[in-house]
Amino acid sequence: MGKVKVSWVCDNCGETFGQWWGTCPSCNVTCSVKKFTEAEFSRARGAEVSEAAVRSWLPEHSITLVPLSLAEVNKGRNQSDWRIPLSGHFGMEVSRVLGGGIVPGSLLLFGGDPGVGKSTLLLQISAILAQGFNFNGPARVVYVSGEESIEQIGNRADRMGITTKDLFLYSSTDIEDILDNVKTCPPQALIVDSIQTVYLRGVAGSAGNIMQVKECTSALLRFAKQTNIPVLLIGHVTKSGDIAGPRILEHIVDAVFYMEGERYSSYRLLRSVKNRFGTTDELGVFEMSESGLEAVSNPSEIFLSDHFSDSDVLAGLAIAVVVDGSRTFLIEVQALCVSDPSAARHANGIKAGRADMIISVLMKQAGLKLQGNAIFLNVVSGYNLTETAGDLAIAAAICSSFLEFPIPNDIAFIGEVGLGGELRGVPRMDKRIIAVAKLGFKRCVIPKAAERTLASLNLELTILGCNNLKDVINMVF
Ligand code: TYD
Ligand code: MG
Repeated sequence: MGKVKVSWVCDNCGETFGQWWGTCPSCNVTCSVKKFTEAEFSRARGAEVSEAAVRSWLPEHSITLVPLSLAEVNKGRNQSDWRIPLSGHFGMEVSRVLGGGIVPGSLLLFGGDPGVGKSTLLLQISAILAQGFNFNGPARVVYVSGEESIEQIGNRADRMGITTKDLFLYSSTDIEDILDNVKTCPPQALIVDSIQTVYLRGVAGSAGNIMQVKECTSALLRFAKQTNIPVLLIGHVTKSGDIAGPRILEHIVDAVFYMEGERYSSYRLLRSVKNRFGTTDELGVFEMSESGLEAVSNPSEIFLSDHFSDSDVLAGLAIAVVVDGSRTFLIEVQALCVSDPSAARHANGIKAGRADMIISVLMKQAGLKLQGNAIFLNVVSGYNLTETAGDLAIAAAICSSFLEFPIPNDIAFIGEVGLGGELRGVPRMDKRIIAVAKLGFKRCVIPKAAERTLASLNLELTILGCNNLKDVINMVF
C-alpha cells in the first residue's frame, strides 16, 4: 500500500507546508496549521468541476484564447460605463467606499463579525442595483443565501421596504447548483451569502473548511471574470480555528470591505482594506435603523455626546478631530481619574500603549501628579481612535478630569504628543480645522508649528498655538 500524502495548510493565510508548525511561518498565527491528507487536498479536481460549471454557463460566450489588442478590448466602451454607480443617499456612501461603483466582472468580499449587518447591507445594495440599473437588457440581481430561506430574506426585504421585482432570491449551498440555476435568470450582479456556507462537489470536507472556502472563491472568481457579472461575496470573520476566516480570501478577490460596529451601538463603519479599482482606507458611516442601514452625512453628530450643547459641561471630556478615509469628523474622548492606590488603567477605543505613554508624559513633562490615580479612558460610540492626532485630546481629557476643571464646550484639540511633552504637527491640518469651524467651535488648540500654514484659511475661529503640554494647561485650564 502506498504512503498517503499529507500536507499542512494554515487556516489563516492559506499557505501550504510540508510539515507541521506551531506558529505559521508565513503569517505568525499560532495553532493555525492543520493537517490534510491527499484525498482532502484534491484541489485540481475541484477546479476542474467548477471550471466546467462556469463554462457551461454562457455557451455562446467564446473564451478568448489569444491575446487581444487594447483597442479591440475597449471597443464600444466609454469611460462612464466602466463602473456601475449606486444611486441615492445610501448608495452614494457605499459607492464612495467601493471606489465609485461596482466594476463589472469583479469579485468583492464583504467581511465582518456575525450579526454586524452584512446581509442587510448586501440586500440593500442588491435592491439599489435592481431598481437603478441602466443596462440595455433585463435588470436583474440574484441574491443567493446559504444561511437563510427565501421566506426569511423576503421577510427582511419587506421590513426594509424593498419591493423591486427585479431582485431574485435563491437559497442554496451547492456552487454548481447555484451557477446552474442562476442561469435561468441571468443577472447583472450575483450576491452570495456567505462563503462559509457554500461548497463545491469534488472538494473534500464540509462547507466552511479552508479548502472549500478557497476553491469556492476561486470558482466564483472564474465565474465573474468569464461572464463579466460582478459577484458580491459575504464572509464571516471568526476567531475559531476550524472555520477559515476571510483572511485567506483577500489574495483571491479583487476588493475587500470590512464592516465594523459595536453590538450595543447602532453605528456601522464600512472600510475598504483592499481595492484593485480604487483607493483603500476609504470609510463609510451608516446607522442601523428599523428599516435597514442609512447613510450618516455628518458623523460628528454620532461621536459628540449631548454635553456638547449643554451649558454645564462635565470634567474629563475633550474633543478630538479625526480624518478617516476621506471623512473628517469630531469625536469625544472621555477620561476619569479616581484616587485609587492600585493605579489601574483601562482604555476603550485607544491603544493601551499610547494611553500609557500620554499618561507618563503628563506626569513627567507637565508635572501632573497622576500617581495613585486609577485612570479610565473612553472614546464615544465604540470608535477606535488610532490616529496620533488624537493624542492632545486624550491628554486634555485626563487633565480636565484630574483637575476637575470642565473644558469649555467650544474648544477642540488637534495634535500629536511627543515624549518630551512637545506638540507635533499632524497631516491634513487644514481639513481638520475647517471641520472644527464648520461645527461652530470658537477655539482650537493646535501645535504652534502648524499655525503659520493655517493663516490663509480666514476662519472665524481662534487658533491657540502651543509648543507643549505645559502651554496647553496654562492656556486652557
Ligand atoms: P444581519 O444583516 O443579519 O447581520 P450579518 O449578516 O452580518 O450576520 O443583521 C444583523 C442585525 O441587524 C440583527 O441583529 C438585526 C439588525 N437589523 C436591524 O436593526 N434593522 C434592520 O432593518 C435589519 C434588517 C436588521
Ligand atoms: Mg447574514
